[in-house]
Amino acid sequence: MRKKISTKLIRSGLLRTEFMETSEPLFLTSGFTYKTAEEAEEAFKEEKKRFMYSRFGNPTVEILQKKLADIEGAEVCWATSTGMSAVFTIFMSYLKKGDRVVAGRALFGSCHHILTVILPKFGIEVELIDGKDLNSWEKALKKKTSMIFFETPSNPCLEIIDIKEVTKIAKKKQVLVVVDNVFATPLLQKPIDLGADLVMYSATKHIDGHGRVLGGAILGRKKYCDKFVKPFIRNTGPSISPFNAWVLIKGLETLELRIQKQVNSANLIIDYLKQSNLIKKIYYPYLESSPQLHVAKKQMKSGGNIISFEIVSKNIESKEESFSFLNNLSLINISNNLGDNKSLITHPETTTHHRLNNREKKELGITKNLIRLSVGLEDPEDLIDDIDNALKKINK
Ligand SMILES: Cc1ncc(COP(=O)(O)O)c(C=O)c1O
Repeated sequence: MRKKISTKLIRSGLLRTEFMETSEPLFLTSGFTYKTAEEAEEAFKEEKKRFMYSRFGNPTVEILQKKLADIEGAEVCWATSTGMSAVFTIFMSYLKKGDRVVAGRALFGSCHHILTVILPKFGIEVELIDGKDLNSWEKALKKKTSMIFFETPSNPCLEIIDIKEVTKIAKKKQVLVVVDNVFATPLLQKPIDLGADLVMYSATKHIDGHGRVLGGAILGRKKYCDKFVKPFIRNTGPSISPFNAWVLIKGLETLELRIQKQVNSANLIIDYLKQSNLIKKIYYPYLESSPQLHVAKKQMKSGGNIISFEIVSKNIESKEESFSFLNNLSLINISNNLGDNKSLITHPETTTHHRLNNREKKELGITKNLIRLSVGLEDPEDLIDDIDNALKKINK
């Protein structure tokens, strides 16, 4: 029976011990024992599949991996300790000195750091381009390239990259396509169905949703992951804690309900922002005025729960109004995290993206008036009231 997504979120990967517990078992153990020395030898030679050590694998982690793979429609999933360790594993397990990576320029700050600071140290060439522009991909991929990497929607200005079209261009050149699908979640966008080779998540975000643990995931084909991802994780250790994996399993059970409510609330907040004369610009994938609306509608089931907006200010070079707005909020918390049940807000220019230089910030639209809001599960009317009060109190 082909199960629907709601069923997969609850049931996929389920493993029960002899006690027939209802909730997934938590195997909080670093290692496993062998009845005989021969059994240990067999396990290390991989003649018999079994758990050996939690850096290599753990039953609770495996439940999470099977569930995520089933939800994503991927052959396999490898869970990692954080989203960034998933990104780093993808790069370092596949690339070597002399290789070249092309990436969409609109990136989360730490991904930008890996690409522009760490990879070049290992002799890997990186070119950042305008990911929205298909001609830029065509042009950049004229040069021999090993991998492309992009985030869509991007953090924080929610730029949309056409996954299907970019993948088509990359496939003509046999380039590995990696998509950071954090903002869309596995429910709103399916990069593998659109041709991508690998998808990564920061499970810290919507997958947990309750702001409890860090986690990450890499999803793709078994043959590829067995060759590159598995030995890298086993030997370098970005493995996830079984406890965190267990928390994420529980998070996934309510992902669909949380996303549905958060997206509804995000749309109500957008309606409010649109009519406010204190808001200059709104960024949201499903906004009617967005130049990329057609691409967003083609590849995303909805616009998601993250909204970015610019506040009207006397001086665009000043963060004064933005800080005053954030400091005047009484319900929504100032936090650089996102995808949480609690609504969280941040000023990307001074937090998540503060390390970008002025030219890079300008190219990405990260101004001093830009605010990023991750809509949570509170009553949307209360959230709108909080935003309305804080906007009206700016600099008062
Ligand atoms: C788009 C995106 N990718 C990757 C990450 C990294 O995830 P983590 O914080 O779990 O390492 C983040 C975190 O904020 C993110 O927003």
